[in-house]
Amino acid sequence: MIIKPSIRNNVYLNAHPKGCEAFVNSLSEEAKDLPDFAGPKRVLIIGGSSGYGLASRVALAQNAHASTINVSFEKRPSGKRSGTAGFWNNIAFLKQAKTLDSAHYDIIGDAFSEDIKKRTMQKIKETFSRVDLVVYSLAAGARPDPETGKLVYSSLKPIGEPLVGRTIDVANKKMKDIRISPATREEIDNTVYVMGGSDWKAWLEALDAAGCLSERAKTVSYTYVGSGSMDRIYRGGTIGKAKEDLEKTARDMDVWLQEKYNGEALISSSKAVTTKASVFIPGITTYMACLFDAMKEKGTHESILTHKHRLFKDMVYGSKRRTDSLGRLRMDHYEMDADVQEKTLSCVQKHQDESVFALSGTKHFLEEFHHIHGFGYDHIDYEEDLDLDALIPDDIALEEHLD
Ligand code: NAI
Repeated sequence: MIIKPSIRNNVYLNAHPKGCEAFVNSLSEEAKDLPDFAGPKRVLIIGGSSGYGLASRVALAQNAHASTINVSFEKRPSGKRSGTAGFWNNIAFLKQAKTLDSAHYDIIGDAFSEDIKKRTMQKIKETFSRVDLVVYSLAAGARPDPETGKLVYSSLKPIGEPLVGRTIDVANKKMKDIRISPATREEIDNTVYVMGGSDWKAWLEALDAAGCLSERAKTVSYTYVGSGSMDRIYRGGTIGKAKEDLEKTARDMDVWLQEKYNGEALISSSKAVTTKASVFIPGITTYMACLFDAMKEKGTHESILTHKHRLFKDMVYGSKRRTDSLGRLRMDHYEMDADVQEKTLSCVQKHQDESVFALSGTKHFLEEFHHIHGFGYDHIDYEEDLDLDALIPDDIALEEHLD
């Protein structure tokens, strides 16, 4: 199959296996230049095939020498479909993991389901017997309601008034307007159901019941606080309500994990990074482009890998924690720095039109957006006719449980 970039309505419809491998290798190369740290030895990552979950996996495997089990929802190639970027990232990670002094397994399936939870417990018992750390890094569009079997959808919407803003049209390299109508009560509740803390808690309860948590077990999930300029769509919108619920879940779980395991439940307020969803949030692409430039100028820009490496090295396992009044680890303090915010917001005001494409931050954003789907690498021949099945080794520890 020849796989060329295919983008419709800002969504990549395909992914390039060799490009995804190049992306995962680049994370790994970055990790090799970073210091090792004393961290967990056995880690369960829920949502470790891309974004923050993948960066967490690479940093923990490379720099803490941890073994990992990753649960993700990804599709292998079939017919004319290339397979998802996360599927190829998992393959690339497992290939690379053969060179590591640790063990790595992948379970593909719906993390929300009882079945996948049970299979994961079984895998933990067969392999590490217990886990020291659970990273919960799901970004999901939908979660089945176990009673009706119907999918409940999350949404990225403002609350109260409609929101009009601009985003990058990636395929045409233009700015375009987006208008998002306010969420209904049901949409708010549904987003909390999908992206809030109830499934995270269900995972920890299942691990506890199965005897799969070690003494001093920790769990961490990721929230975003961000600039006040994004409040209408983020903290004040549907996703903000879900994050409030996730943060409350961390505080509740922290109490019982401390009592029972001498462990802890943590929330990291992470920095804004390029993700598949960035292009659907009005204003965020310009904000990120300006933020990248402001942080680079200040010398505080971090890649997704260095950000997660610092989280585990300094804050989850280290002694350099910064927490706020709600107990959140404030990994985003470089982004929230007053000088960085002032420069970012003044840049955003100046670049509401096509002039944004002249910013090096926008070039950086677009390059990363293509890379996370395996495209835009100069050394890859995108005309090459690939035998996709031949790119999936037989001897990798990957189980698939998709109906
Ligand atoms: P992503 O889209 O790159 O990764 C999401 C992961 O969830 C993938 O591994 C995917 O396979 C998995 N997943 C989705 N539905 C699943 C299901 N039903 N069963 C099993 N796995 C499933 O997301 P990203 O951007 O890394 O976000 C991860 C978390 O970090 C989210 O909670 C997000 O809100 C948070 N965050 C993200 C920031 C950003 O700038 N990207 C900033 C701060 C927090």
